[in-house]
Amino acid sequence: MAGPHQTIIIFGGTGDLAHRMLFPSLYNLFADRLLPDDVLIIGSGRSEMDDEAFRASIDLQKSLPEDRYHPDTAADFLQRIRYSAVSGKQEEFTRLRDLVGDRLDRGVSVYLSTPPSLFAPMVEGLGRAGLSGPTVRVAMEKPIGQDLASSLQVNDAVNAVFDEDRVFRVDHYLGKETVQNLLVLRFGNALFEPLWNAQGIEHVQITVAETVGLEGRVSYYDGVGALKDMVQNHVLQLLALVAMEPPASMAPAAVRDEKVKVIRSLRAMTRETVGAHSVRGQYGSGAVGGQPVKGYAEELGRPSGTETFVALKAHIDNWRWAGVPFYLRTGKRMPVRSSEILIKFRPVPHSIFARGGKGLEPNTMIIRIQPQENIQLQVMAKQPGLDRHGLNLREVALDVSLSTEAAGQRRRIAYERLLLDLIEGDPTLFVRRDEVEAAWSWIDSIREAWDQAGQEVRSYTAGTWGPSAAIALIERDGASWHE
Ligand code: BG6
Repeated sequence: MAGPHQTIIIFGGTGDLAHRMLFPSLYNLFADRLLPDDVLIIGSGRSEMDDEAFRASIDLQKSLPEDRYHPDTAADFLQRIRYSAVSGKQEEFTRLRDLVGDRLDRGVSVYLSTPPSLFAPMVEGLGRAGLSGPTVRVAMEKPIGQDLASSLQVNDAVNAVFDEDRVFRVDHYLGKETVQNLLVLRFGNALFEPLWNAQGIEHVQITVAETVGLEGRVSYYDGVGALKDMVQNHVLQLLALVAMEPPASMAPAAVRDEKVKVIRSLRAMTRETVGAHSVRGQYGSGAVGGQPVKGYAEELGRPSGTETFVALKAHIDNWRWAGVPFYLRTGKRMPVRSSEILIKFRPVPHSIFARGGKGLEPNTMIIRIQPQENIQLQVMAKQPGLDRHGLNLREVALDVSLSTEAAGQRRRIAYERLLLDLIEGDPTLFVRRDEVEAAWSWIDSIREAWDQAGQEVRSYTAGTWGPSAAIALIERDGASWHE
């Protein structure tokens, strides 16, 4: 079967992600005529309701920018949506299969936006109902498991029903425009690649800072924490794109083979090394954006050992990156929402300027992913003046604002790209089984080392950049976080 799948089933269709992201993204694709003319979208949740009640629960106007919402288009779009309750009983899967009917031959993409504990039972139910043949693909959101052992179980259960080439594991960071742009920056320019290694780069920083707190996600987040919620997936995907070898082409296997090699090269942490290479934190009360906010334990209603912040000093043990630290940090209730990658190049080998050249600094590249999308290269320039006592130098920014460069082009929701790739069958921006498992191996080494070393979770004030130990983690090496 060629061509895009004509039926999309969303499990977890009554959930938050479906309503905030998946339906608005499908609406945008529909409005731009990027979905097949005959598309059918089936939402599925635990509760029984009819099509009309389900359609009425989808508030597109609330989730879309004003200029995107058109009542007539929305009405047409909602007519494409049906509802079929599935709480786990086999007859419900059979009913779903009947609803799909002969559309099965024209391709069905199933999106599991459910708690991860339901991935295996859902997939098994689909298999028994005959909704798993060669014309069906399945997509699922992270987390795939809680550690390597449980992710193996989930992946085994899914692969028992769906071959790996029909399993699409979603990491929504890969749907972000600037994240994909990393590949173009590195491999579409001859300028940077010769320096993109241990000879040219001193260190790399990856920061994913959020201002939000627990956001009512108590049942999911507590006991999971920042390491598993953010580093295992989003942060390591960013690291893989920054550090991978050039793939032979943009073919899915070529790109994913290179990513997995990098993740496998991460040096495991041990009880002896983890203290100097990681910091865990949990926010206490404070203020974010001028508003007072409660501490994590207070939001939760009880004390907890879950980290809402983590900073790591990672090493990639391969030829390209030997000796180059990758400082990673992510946290909730930080002062600003900001995801960025900083590349600190090595200093010039010798300064020709008198007195060393006042102000001479190594070059820096900052790749901002959100909220702004831009790439900035700090280069040295001469300070205007007569320079009677030697040249005064200063850093100036070569600035590429992607939002200005692409002005007039709408920035799409990350899920739009991913949903379209799913129905068209392009797995490049999805995470392969071996990548997930390699990521868990590294994360497990950190968790186990934390347990063995009894590493504490330090408190930080909401609205700050995490515990002071996180600053010490990088400053011990003579560097500092970019803020
Ligand atoms: C999710 C995490 O995967 O990513 C959340 O579970 C986090 O805890 C979110 O808030 C961040 O996504 P974004 O796109 O807002 O950076």
